[in-house]
Amino acid sequence: RHAAYMAICACGPNSAVLHYGHGGAPNDRTLQPTYMALLDMGAEYHGYCSDITCSFPMDGTFSADQRAMFEGVLNAQRAVMALMAPSVSWVDCHRAAECEIVQALLALCVLRDCGKSLEQVLAADLCNTFMPHGLGHFIGCDTHDVGGYNPAASPGPAPARLPGFGVGKLRTSRVLAAGMVLTNEPGCYFIDALLDAALADPAKAPFFDAQVLSRFHGTGGVRLKDVVLVTESGSENLTTCPRTVAKIESVCAGGAWLPAVVACPELLRRRTKLSAGGAGMENVHVPSV
Ligand code: GLY
Ligand code: MN
Repeated sequence: RHAAYMAICACGPNSAVLHYGHGGAPNDRTLQPTYMALLDMGAEYHGYCSDITCSFPMDGTFSADQRAMFEGVLNAQRAVMALMAPSVSWVDCHRAAECEIVQALLALCVLRDCGKSLEQVLAADLCNTFMPHGLGHFIGCDTHDVGGYNPAASPGPAPARLPGFGVGKLRTSRVLAAGMVLTNEPGCYFIDALLDAALADPAKAPFFDAQVLSRFHGTGGVRLKDVVLVTESGSENLTTCPRTVAKIESVCAGGAWLPAVVACPELLRRRTKLSAGGAGMENVHVPSV
């Protein structure tokens, strides 16, 4: 009944606009079978917000390029889930996501390593051309909840915002603690203005293969977003949307969701349902493949 924020419903090139759409615009692009869709939508329930993004091919089948981009972003989510635990810096989580996205772009030959190590390629600050936003944010009574840079934060003051176009976009640079709830929302987008700027930068341009890049021009982007609770021992993923390529293709073809088995246990998802008496939620055990 209540939306946590205005839904972002984009397809094709519109997906490269991070907060695409507003109440006064028609949002009337005709869906094309070759497009990816990007739906960023969250309900509000009993005053608490959710924030979820799914990306999927309009025709229900990933092309090779769509699959490679999607799996790069999914690997970023996986890497972040493997890290999220008390005492881990959110900045390190962001860096881990960047590392996966850069590796996907290298594998696709959109980026080339110029004979440098992965660390040196990462240090060239290329990822923020493709992911010009922070990895995620606190969520609670507001979608972008407070506390990110709070000097009175507990157990200690929140570190200041870092410089830079990538980590500088983070809505918090805090160290994680049990009880925090954040979004894990890496993305990879082909944004003309940012690509033009990178290609005009002599320090960055050599890393780009303009010809391969042209294949992705106008394809928009991929974002995947889950809501994650930090626990005493690690984290729990509270979002249960289809995530693997196989599962998305199966659901697009009419297959069942929720699945009888968990295809990606590394996403640490907790499945819950309303308890029989209607008071509170209870865990549902789903076996892993
Ligand atoms: N759901 C949109 C955002 O996180 O900014
Ligand atoms: Mn978000």
